[in-house]
Amino acid sequence: MIEESDEQLLQMLQQILPPPEQIVTPFEVKTSSPNGIDYDRLVKHFGTSLIEQNLLERFEKLTKQKAHRYLRRGIYYCHRDFEKILDSFERGEKFYLYTGRGPSSKSIHLGHLVPLQFCKYLQDVFDVPVVIQITDDEKLFFKPNLDYSDVQSMANENIKDIIAVGFNPEKTLIFKNGEWMGTLYPTVMKIQSKLQAKQMISVFGFDIDTATVGQFAFPAVQMAPSFAMCFENVFECDVDLNSVNCLIPCAIDQDPYFRVSRDLAPKLHSQKPCLLHSKFLPSLAGIGEKMSASNSESLIFLSDTPPQIKKKIGKCFSGGQVTVAEHREKGGNIETDVAYNLLSVFLEDDELLSHYKNGYIDGSILSGEMKQRAIQTIQNIVSDFQKERNKINDTTIAKFTRFKKIQL
Ligand code: TYM
Repeated sequence: MIEESDEQLLQMLQQILPPPEQIVTPFEVKTSSPNGIDYDRLVKHFGTSLIEQNLLERFEKLTKQKAHRYLRRGIYYCHRDFEKILDSFERGEKFYLYTGRGPSSKSIHLGHLVPLQFCKYLQDVFDVPVVIQITDDEKLFFKPNLDYSDVQSMANENIKDIIAVGFNPEKTLIFKNGEWMGTLYPTVMKIQSKLQAKQMISVFGFDIDTATVGQFAFPAVQMAPSFAMCFENVFECDVDLNSVNCLIPCAIDQDPYFRVSRDLAPKLHSQKPCLLHSKFLPSLAGIGEKMSASNSESLIFLSDTPPQIKKKIGKCFSGGQVTVAEHREKGGNIETDVAYNLLSVFLEDDELLSHYKNGYIDGSILSGEMKQRAIQTIQNIVSDFQKERNKINDTTIAKFTRFKKIQL
């Protein structure tokens, strides 16, 4: 009989077994691995580039700003052509930022806050326009249980959430596809005339027997704003719009749309969009899934009350040991601990974060203390957000959503 330690056995098994199943698409994110999503594997699979230290140093040097905690901590961890954006900034050329939201819940959740906060930071640092697409069409096509009026009311509530993040009203346009299709359509037409149905099947996994026409048509609509020509009525500039770069900050699940945009760009005589990709804020149930509006118990809405936040984080998956004695002796696992994951994304203070990290690893900080700090941090963020949101009125909304010219 072979006698092996648990660790050796585990290593042997890992060599024999295929890598754990991992699905990361715009429609589904999950893994069977206890270690969560393998982000390095996605870099290889999608063909993106890691954000290396020298790129961050160049960013800080050029912008004279400290890199956002999302960059310092590798939460935004890979990119496509971010150097190109830095080059154009260095040459004094303008570019724009593009992000979006698919309204599927009345309130956005903490995961959605990540790209929005980051986009606002990039707008402040580079002083550039931001266009924010609200895909009311997408949710109607992909969530059959939602009807048109549900989606519209969610879209209108989500627009207030987005405004509360603090974008510059002079330089930010928030548009619902249902209302703005006239502006988008010339670019959508150009894209749809080049896209093959088989590309939709291979990139987005659509099933030819069951997918609807709306589903096949939608990707071109999300791709259109990644080309500056889409905003020829909005952007004022003295250069050819086809030469203007677009930077898209998003979680890695949205990459397939823009991979196709980049393939098509030469055919549209336009620049390829550049991207910054983040990892996912995990579900409260564990790191195997992203925080997602499809499971309301395992997420924190930005509309949650302090007691709701306390209750939800109190129950979240812990990387601690079963007993206090065991935890003091062996320490906890910060990789799988959801409260630590929340702190690593939202706690601004680097030193305090290291204190919690090191204390958890050496067993001096218990799961309850980690959760307590996460509860306090998230309650503060949500309460600040709610104060800003309560100030929003119809005039504020109009400033962001009505037609206007934006100087590039
Ligand atoms: P949606 O509404 O699912 O998500 C909005 C943005 O939030 C990111 N995101 C997350 N980031 C970190 N952790 C999470 N748990 C998490 N969950 C969602 C998404 O990557 C996205 O950036 N089809 C899009 C809407 C859209 C869009 C865009 C997104 C239209 N145009 C351009 C990005 C860029 C959607 O349904 O996103």
